[in-house]
Amino acid sequence: MVKPFYLDLTESEIADIQEKTGEILRTGNLILGKYTEQFENEFARYTGCEYAVSLNSCTSALQTLLTLKGVRGRKVAVPTNTNFASVAAILHAGGQPVYMDMTRDFFVPDLEILKFTYDKNPELAGVLWVHIAGIIPPDFEEVAEFCKSKNLFLLEDCAHAHGSQLNSTKAGNFGDGGAYSFFTTKVMTTIEGGMITTNNPEDAAFVKSYRNQGKRGGNFGGLHQDLGNSWRLSEIEAYMGLVQLAKLDEMVGRRQRAVDALVPLLKEKNIDFCDTGHMQQASQYKFIMLYKGELSVDELKANFKEEDVALGGGVYEVPCHLQPVFESVPFDENHVKVAHKFCPKHICPPITSGTTDSDIGKIKSAIQKYF
Ligand SMILES: Cc1ncc(COP(=O)(O)O)c(C=O)c1O
Repeated sequence: MVKPFYLDLTESEIADIQEKTGEILRTGNLILGKYTEQFENEFARYTGCEYAVSLNSCTSALQTLLTLKGVRGRKVAVPTNTNFASVAAILHAGGQPVYMDMTRDFFVPDLEILKFTYDKNPELAGVLWVHIAGIIPPDFEEVAEFCKSKNLFLLEDCAHAHGSQLNSTKAGNFGDGGAYSFFTTKVMTTIEGGMITTNNPEDAAFVKSYRNQGKRGGNFGGLHQDLGNSWRLSEIEAYMGLVQLAKLDEMVGRRQRAVDALVPLLKEKNIDFCDTGHMQQASQYKFIMLYKGELSVDELKANFKEEDVALGGGVYEVPCHLQPVFESVPFDENHVKVAHKFCPKHICPPITSGTTDSDIGKIKSAIQKYF
């Protein structure tokens, strides 16, 4: 069965992690030690940001950034086409989500959608953008300029966007802070984990305090000065992050090659897909294909399974404005029309850094049969 997830660790990398785990356990330095610091430094360098601060998840990273921006009681624009976590983080931080629609071409908003949302909500405090599937839209630099000109903060949810780059800038380095996820299914993983990227030293210091029970200045001892949380990454996870980060570009390259192997068939069959050709590098966390037929996504999933292909989740089949938990978040149907129409009409073939030629063959024959 072609699977949608793949843990990209070789036997020698596993042996290395085992050895380092032994070392970490023997020394007893289990948190906020040398591997956490090294992982943060190398992640900052990779993204081109001045600072990177690790946390236990992207959800907590988002909530920390939103708290830092003082969103309590204020409106924050967020795409309706996103994971639960983006909207939940705004609510947990006391903010009011305002949904943005998406374009059919990229499944993310664009400058026009943001301007429209701002015109309708001039009291917006800022924007929590989400690079769905790892896609940074072609006009994202203008989005960042627009936010600056209107005094809106711009935070980037980069949970899907490891390695994604538009022109010379990596995801998480366009605005006022980025939040990455290292959850098990992501492009790189620490099993659970997250990271904030920023160029602001005060923000980085706040995050370091906020993830560690509000202790400013040092990790251990001292007074609690911020109403923070226990949201640290462990040293073992940080070491795993170092191993994964070292091969991130290689893993993304393998995803891209799998996408490249599929695209000619899609073009031949006139199947629309989200084309990331305008980006310098796209994470290819998910490859979004539009479906014009009559079957539901569940029926398509069952059919693909018959062909030995397990379709993973889409991004996202059910946008947030339809999620039961967000029932109390107001929205205008006319402002989420594209997401409403196209979210339930896409699939993501199972492409990972472990996709083989034989997997591609199976995916292609399922597409030939059902599209
Ligand atoms: C877009 C997006 N943001 C945030 C998150 C939350 O990540 P984490 O599980 O690390 O909290 C996810 C997780 O799936 C996600 O897809």
